[in-house]
Amino acid sequence: MRLSFRLILSLIFAVTIVSVLFALYQVQADRRARRNDLEKRAQLMAESLQETVQPLLAKGAHGNLQRLLDRFGNRERMEGVAIFNPEGHPVLMTSNLAARLDSHLPALNKTVFQGNGWGQFFSVGQTKMHLYAVPIHSGDSTTWALAVFHDASYIDAQNSKIWRDAFKNVLVQMLLISTITLLIVRWTMERPIKRLAQWLQDLRAGSAEPHPDLPSSDVFKPLTLEVTHLADSLKIARASAEEEARLRETANSLWTAERLRVYQQEALEESRLFVVSNREPYEHVFRGSSIETVVPASGLVTAMEPILRACDGTWIASGAGDADHETVDAHDRLRVPPEEPQYTLRRVWLTREEEERYYYGFANEGIWPLCHIAHTRPVFRVEDWEAYQEVNRKFARAVLDEVAGQDHPIVLVQDYHFALLPKLIKEQRPDVRVAIFWHIPWPNPEAFGICPWQRELLEGLLGADLIGFHIQSHCNNFLETIDRTLESRIEWERFAVNRGGHNTVVRPFPISVDFKEDPLFHANGSGESELLRQERYRLQKQLGVQADYLGIGVDRLDYTKGIPERFRGIERFLDRYPSYIGRFTFVQIGAPSRTHIGRYQDLIHEVEGEADRINHRFETKHWKPIVFLKRHHNHEEIEPFYRVSDLCLVTSLHDGMNLVAKEYVASRNDEGGALILSLFTGASRELLDALIVNPYDTEQLAEAIHYALDMDPRQRRERMRRMRRVVKQHNIYRWAANLIGAVSEIRVEQPQGVKCQPA
Ligand code: G6P
Repeated sequence: MRLSFRLILSLIFAVTIVSVLFALYQVQADRRARRNDLEKRAQLMAESLQETVQPLLAKGAHGNLQRLLDRFGNRERMEGVAIFNPEGHPVLMTSNLAARLDSHLPALNKTVFQGNGWGQFFSVGQTKMHLYAVPIHSGDSTTWALAVFHDASYIDAQNSKIWRDAFKNVLVQMLLISTITLLIVRWTMERPIKRLAQWLQDLRAGSAEPHPDLPSSDVFKPLTLEVTHLADSLKIARASAEEEARLRETANSLWTAERLRVYQQEALEESRLFVVSNREPYEHVFRGSSIETVVPASGLVTAMEPILRACDGTWIASGAGDADHETVDAHDRLRVPPEEPQYTLRRVWLTREEEERYYYGFANEGIWPLCHIAHTRPVFRVEDWEAYQEVNRKFARAVLDEVAGQDHPIVLVQDYHFALLPKLIKEQRPDVRVAIFWHIPWPNPEAFGICPWQRELLEGLLGADLIGFHIQSHCNNFLETIDRTLESRIEWERFAVNRGGHNTVVRPFPISVDFKEDPLFHANGSGESELLRQERYRLQKQLGVQADYLGIGVDRLDYTKGIPERFRGIERFLDRYPSYIGRFTFVQIGAPSRTHIGRYQDLIHEVEGEADRINHRFETKHWKPIVFLKRHHNHEEIEPFYRVSDLCLVTSLHDGMNLVAKEYVASRNDEGGALILSLFTGASRELLDALIVNPYDTEQLAEAIHYALDMDPRQRRERMRRMRRVVKQHNIYRWAANLIGAVSEIRVEQPQGVKCQPA
């Protein structure tokens, strides 16, 4: 109220000042104009009378003169006319003028008798008057004078009217200003603040709407943003507290971020956690002159991020964003996530040539196709191999720099970019517990054997204390590869390798995603909720298609993902079941990836070409079978597609795990939707209730799509419920806990001279 009062007072004050100044100006201008006007009129009148009076005066016809004066004396606003003799005394006057002037007749200025016109304003009591005199020449060569008198009081009356109007205006404006200010303050300030306060209160009481209509105007944006973050943190904290309570209640073994934090503190004691990967979790990029944060499309990032958040470790990765340099401190570090810093990111800088040869060359044209059996030949160039070794050394220096002074730190190396890193770290710091997790498949020994530097890669890997793969068969392939390539002792019962006195344990750790229940989209047992219907309608409108059924695919545009095969499956499905033409649309979200590599460019053309070809065959005015969205979408953009799609297609030709399959399942709070999953993914070993397909088998794919859309709703819900149970139980926190548990059990090498215990 005080704010409104102050606002109103200031506005009224300002408006009054402006109105008064304006009225003042108007009064002065008006007075000036009216006086000029009166003076001119009087002059004209006097001069016209002058010509008529002069001959009568010359003749001495005073009787005629008096009549003439009386006739003129009644004109508008005129008070009368008088004739003065050369001594300045009035000799003739319109009848009522004498009474009106009483004794206030001003003396005429001498200049009149010298032949000039002269005028003056004067007062008679309260009344303002004006006289204008002109000379008149009589017959005897003396000069007389004629004066016309006007009532000038109307000028003051007009001025008072202007002031009265100005006052009235101010009053009306005050009223309007007060009302409008009160309404604006109420609508734009009080109401939003009350709404915000009410929402916070409900939030505290646990009865808040999940997505209330919070104020979004510019003034409130920062506040709304902060409050929403606060609310989210509160919700997460409450959810995990509830989850914990439920756990205690049921003695269940669900893993949460909170549980992982406590667990890792106990398991690692004083040891700190360091993660190394090529891809960083947050890239900073220039958008015009401002800097934006981008979360890259990477299964590895999706999986590791919640762990780092839970454990406040350090993530060492290559800085690839064009604004990355701008956002680090003097030690190339920064705290992330940007909106709520929870762990440290240390960036390592690669030269353009290193990126070209190590990343695009050796890692992605060599090892990637080597490990994925997707019929793209690996390319091995010696310059790429040299760069790969050099970058591994560069990262080793960064890791050693970060772990300096730390007691028994734990380093979790990620993926095929750093096969040499475990050995390089161990050579300098044998006390560091090193694990490497290989996020992609490990092929059979024959396939791996074509790599000219397979021995060096394997030796580098065996520097680790623990090597993790997604599934058992990748562990088997790895040990068989070691068996065929290096001299070592393999303990098959323990899945361990001993080479040169160093032990490496090899284990499967099926990676997963964070599983969050979203009560908003909870299953209500009565089919699709209103909220989902609205969301689906919004998305379809956005895409410009109308369809009864939606399918979704989300991938990096990579040849291992089987996207053209997927499209051909959809084409076959429409051929076989034409009743779905015009009713089923598949949305393919594809993030361009590694586009400097020719094979990836070819793939983009192939995917676009296939989508165009198939659309051309079937599309109608408001419908097409495939919508290809070729750009990186963040998680918040993808989630709605997951939630409303009737099916999700994961058709990788070969994939270590594939987290899209698990993300889709985790998103289906409503227990709806069906997952079609390639049997060549790691995920197919866990998600047994998916419709498992061979992506090369187009007929089978078409049948699976039909089956998914036509499935009995109860069966669909049952399948989804079971898959959700698996993902919920085997979430990313369990994965991290298993990995950290296994690493913490490792007994590291003793300093030289101390005898090692048998492993
Ligand atoms: C796979 C790899 C990750 C990689 C991701 C994205 O998931 O296992 O290590 O980060 O693909 O690829 P990119 O080359 O863009 O990092």
